[in-house]
Amino acid sequence: MPQGASRRGGDARYRASVRLSVAPMMDWTDSHCRVSHRLLAPNARLYTEMVHANAVVLGDRARLLAMDPVEHPVALQLGGSEPALLAQAARIGADHGFDEINLNVGCPSDRVQAGRFGACLMREPALVADSVAAMAAACDVPVTVKCRLGVDDDHEYARFLAFVDTVAAAGCRDFIVHARNAWLKGLSPKENREVPPLRYDWAYALKRERPALTVVVNGGIADADEASAHLDHVDGAMLGRAAYHDPWLLHRLDAAWYGGAVSTRADVLRAMRPYVERQLARGAQLKHISRHWLGLFQGERGGRAFRQVLSEGAHRPGADWSLVEQAIAVTAARPSEAASTPVQSPR
Ligand SMILES: Cc1cc2nc3c(=O)[nH]c(=O)nc-3n(C[C@H](O)[C@H](O)[C@H](O)COP(=O)(O)O)c2cc1C
Repeated sequence: MPQGASRRGGDARYRASVRLSVAPMMDWTDSHCRVSHRLLAPNARLYTEMVHANAVVLGDRARLLAMDPVEHPVALQLGGSEPALLAQAARIGADHGFDEINLNVGCPSDRVQAGRFGACLMREPALVADSVAAMAAACDVPVTVKCRLGVDDDHEYARFLAFVDTVAAAGCRDFIVHARNAWLKGLSPKENREVPPLRYDWAYALKRERPALTVVVNGGIADADEASAHLDHVDGAMLGRAAYHDPWLLHRLDAAWYGGAVSTRADVLRAMRPYVERQLARGAQLKHISRHWLGLFQGERGGRAFRQVLSEGAHRPGADWSLVEQAIAVTAARPSEAASTPVQSPR
């Protein structure tokens, strides 16, 4: 299907969500995490953990594609490099209700390299283009790519631009650029998020030179000022670790960039109660939900005690909402806490 207004991605709320997104993170951005982030940042775009296309097609979809309706706009990130399989998985994801299907061209792990997907695909633009074309033909939502600048000793901007041009010609209009290379030998995935130098200027140049493309910058964005500064150059900022470890940052950015009211940490957390109780009634354990909140009161009075009450208590059998109230009670949430450090609105 051609890209355009008939796609579900033509929706205004989805389009506006490009400014602020939370990165796909394995073992972290599960559905419980995304629901928490949604309550903190009503306008942000959320991403699942990477799921291999093969698992989507053959695996336990109820578990792998678990998603709560409150999560929209939410993208499913796929891994893989077989166009037909990716197309099938993209169709399943779109039918499942995801607003976007994103292809992972950034993961450097040995396992992923052995499977010939992730970051090593930076060296195979034609295969990525074929994959994107097959996925876009199979589903009615935008197909996007999250990539690196290159791999190993790729240091030519022209090579990165040629990669993007090849993939864009196949129907991808949206690129999330983790603005550093992936070093495929000798670095762990964790080191690959820290050691190769950041070059935001490549993402900026891409937006300047290809203004019709949507460019989102990712990598090392540590605070609200840095995030806001990127919006002078590109369409959006994607935050990973900073958003996870300091989820209140998401709330402040969302309020500043989209004009919502600033709430309190305790109020946002209490808004999770119906979701938590529904999940507990279905057999979920509190620890699997509350693990995503441990950084919520980071830097606040009582923040450490909040973390301790939750992390120790949530493991006990039968832990329920009363534990969350106990954790909130040890904090000194103040209504004005976020207002004291306003985030600049982007120009
Ligand atoms: C625990 C963890 C898991 C990650 N898993 C994925 C993943 O599944 N797919 C992906 O594209 N990137 C993944 N990443 C990379 C992030 O999406 C992001 O590109 C990277 O952390 C840089 O952004 P940041 O500096 O804001 O964290 C992961 C990062 C972390 C910390």
